[in-house]
Amino acid sequence: RFLNRNAGAPPNLQAGGNSEAHKHTIYQGKESVMSQSYEVIFENNRKWLEQKKQQYPDYFKELADGQNPEYLYIGCSDSRVAAEGMMGLEPGEVFVHRNVANLVHGLDLNAASAIEYAVSHLKVKHIIICGHYNCGGIKAAMKPQDLGSMNPWLRSIRDVYRLHQEELDAIEDGHLRYDRLVELNVQEQCLNVIKMACVQERYLLDGYPIVHGWVFDLRTGRLIDLNIDFKNILADIQKIYDLTDSEWVVNARKKAD
Ligand code: CO
Repeated sequence: RFLNRNAGAPPNLQAGGNSEAHKHTIYQGKESVMSQSYEVIFENNRKWLEQKKQQYPDYFKELADGQNPEYLYIGCSDSRVAAEGMMGLEPGEVFVHRNVANLVHGLDLNAASAIEYAVSHLKVKHIIICGHYNCGGIKAAMKPQDLGSMNPWLRSIRDVYRLHQEELDAIEDGHLRYDRLVELNVQEQCLNVIKMACVQERYLLDGYPIVHGWVFDLRTGRLIDLNIDFKNILADIQKIYDLTDSEWVVNARKKAD
């Protein structure tokens, strides 16, 4: 199931050497390894679809019919955090949006579109922001340094640090401080989701979606629920960010009464 990166690697891959001729053979060796690691995906795919069809002949017909997921999952792009796998869910059960360090910016149209679609059209019941310990994005943001085009992205993590600087600076152990920033970042991204009009409107009309904050501990494989107090946070947020005054929402509420 997993890529075997070393399968069939020619021995000259391990060899050193500086001559042009040698470089040429090294390049060719890499090319064959490259094509193997690429082709294996299609081999895996054939095996996977055969297995699915054997278990359930109508599997792909039903997948093609449409989706009705209960969850929107917003997580990190990190290759070690596999959304469906760790939740034990199958294709069709979770709508997924991933980016570096699981951020939800006000100006990020990509995240905003995924959330709007999941909430207003798919009508998901739960929105999950899932961070993870050992997150490279969080680690990068903890170091004060110029990382070029990644600066604007990392800045919002640095903003989370600044918002919670007192608490974080009081943690002497660097690893624990790193873990805590992962958690606080999830918490802040939950707030960012709760600030959105579509989330507030649907919740007012339907009683969902509920926003949850999780951390995946890849050292143990466990999912940790940070038990975000959605109702209280929403009430607090709405003192400043209440966006439920649209005419259609007011009318829908009148109709329901
Ligand atoms: Co990460």
